[in-house]
Amino acid sequence: MVEKFLEGKGALITGGASGFGRGVAEAFAERGADLVLVDIKTDLLEETSSNIEKKYGCKVVPIECDVSKSDQVKAMAKRTFNELDNIYFLFDNAGIAPGYRKDFMKLEEDLYDLTMNVNLKGQWLVAKEICKKMRRQQFEPYAGKVVLTASMFGVIANEKSFAYSLSKAGAITMAKMLAKTLAPKITVNSISPGYHVTGIYHNSLDTLMSVHNDGKAQTPLNRIGDVDDVVKVILFIASDASNFITGHNFVIDGGISEVGVPANALKVDL
Ligand SMILES: NC(=O)c1ccc[n+]([C@@H]2O[C@H](COP(=O)([O-])OP(=O)(O)OC[C@H]3O[C@@H](n4cnc5c(N)ncnc54)[C@H](O)[C@@H]3O)[C@@H](O)[C@H]2O)c1
Repeated sequence: MVEKFLEGKGALITGGASGFGRGVAEAFAERGADLVLVDIKTDLLEETSSNIEKKYGCKVVPIECDVSKSDQVKAMAKRTFNELDNIYFLFDNAGIAPGYRKDFMKLEEDLYDLTMNVNLKGQWLVAKEICKKMRRQQFEPYAGKVVLTASMFGVIANEKSFAYSLSKAGAITMAKMLAKTLAPKITVNSISPGYHVTGIYHNSLDTLMSVHNDGKAQTPLNRIGDVDDVVKVILFIASDASNFITGHNFVIDGGISEVGVPANALKVDL
């Protein structure tokens, strides 16, 4: 039995139909939260929402919305607060990685715009609309908590994925600025996952391997990450255990950006 520390609390998760968003939605539902799940993949969104509602008996509201479109985000936020009386936790997580292998010189303008609009502008639009109301909520010690999804490629500049890396570096900075803006009412942090098999890699380890380093994706901890590696960190942030942390970027990459060497280089006899 898990502790239901999110009972009476609402959570809004963008990119909630799949991957990290779906994993966090399940974990929050198990801990008593009611949910708004936001995505553009209508069928998957309906399926994920009804599965979670049936399994955990909580309220799950699926809302189709493109986070890069301000009119859709405004309508989504309005419906959210009609359906739930609070949003305690915002997981501002929807993101895309088009144009991998398109470096600074090769990237086309339309892919640049698409990546920036979804990954960066989208996080801003959603946080802006949701936090307006979140900061007036009466929870103690915080009215709410926000997490933006960045990437280890926001920490390590990845020249092979120019727009993605730039958008994720922006997300880390946005979380710090938002943390200053919303303190002391709301904590705001970012997460920076590394290599994890999710929808972004068509749920395939082979795809992940072929996209990165021509099949040589490695971590110092010698395994590729999964959704649960991210869910556990989000649960920590959602819990009281993280209550003195804001503006922080949680890197969840098996050590790549901190240790900075491939796994095999660490295989030594002690
Ligand atoms: N998987 C990884 O290894 C990894 C690593 C670092 C960062 N990330 C980031 O994690 C986040 C979640 O991705 P994931 O890996 O779970 O992949 P995913 O594809 O499984 O989930 C992303 C979800 O976002 C939705 N989405 C895409 N564009 C949208 C839009 N305009 N409006 C609303 N929803 C939209 C997709 O439909 C999808 O359901 C993304 O921001 C991604 O950049 C992933």
